[in-house]
Amino acid sequence: MTIKNLVPLIDEEAIQRRILEMAEEINAVYKDEPLVVVCVLKGAFMFFSDLVRHLTCRPEIDFVRLASYGSGSEGGQTISFTKDVEIPLKDKHVLIVEDIVDTGHTMDFLMRQFRARGARSLRLAVLIDKNERREVAVTSHFVGFALPGGFIVGYGLDYAETCRELPALYEAELEA
Ligand code: PRP
Repeated sequence: MTIKNLVPLIDEEAIQRRILEMAEEINAVYKDEPLVVVCVLKGAFMFFSDLVRHLTCRPEIDFVRLASYGSGSEGGQTISFTKDVEIPLKDKHVLIVEDIVDTGHTMDFLMRQFRARGARSLRLAVLIDKNERREVAVTSHFVGFALPGGFIVGYGLDYAETCRELPALYEAELEA
């Protein structure tokens, strides 16, 4: 499959406006409490870097990368860390920053892991909450855009590792 067409979905200005609003919501929750903000690589890298520069609580930042094997719909999905955080999370307020929640398996895994490490609080900021294929319930505390479905690329989200660099979000139309 290749990309036949990129249909504009959310432009750069709208993304940046919404991120500023999200940052204000986040700042109101944490005030100046110590916070660890965790970026889920690779898809969240652009959202994360735009979001954290508006945070006022002087957060610590860290990164994880996860790999998943198998299909959630077959009940056989396995998720593991290929890069874990380096900052201990015990007794810390933790905010996970993710680009998209789709089936929910990735965030369900990560939130269980972090909860088991004794985080003082755990919240999720997600740019796109896509609910059409949700298989596991995930609580997103800060949501950029709620979208039903579509193959979304740009602003960190990829198709076969391409399109991540685009500053806006698109729906990719694919062809064989
Ligand atoms: C994407 C996305 C989320 C996950 C969401 O990651 O960044 O982490 O899938 O899917 P789920 O809700 O169905 O679990 P991907 O594995 O494509 O890696 P990437 O972030 O490196 O693009």
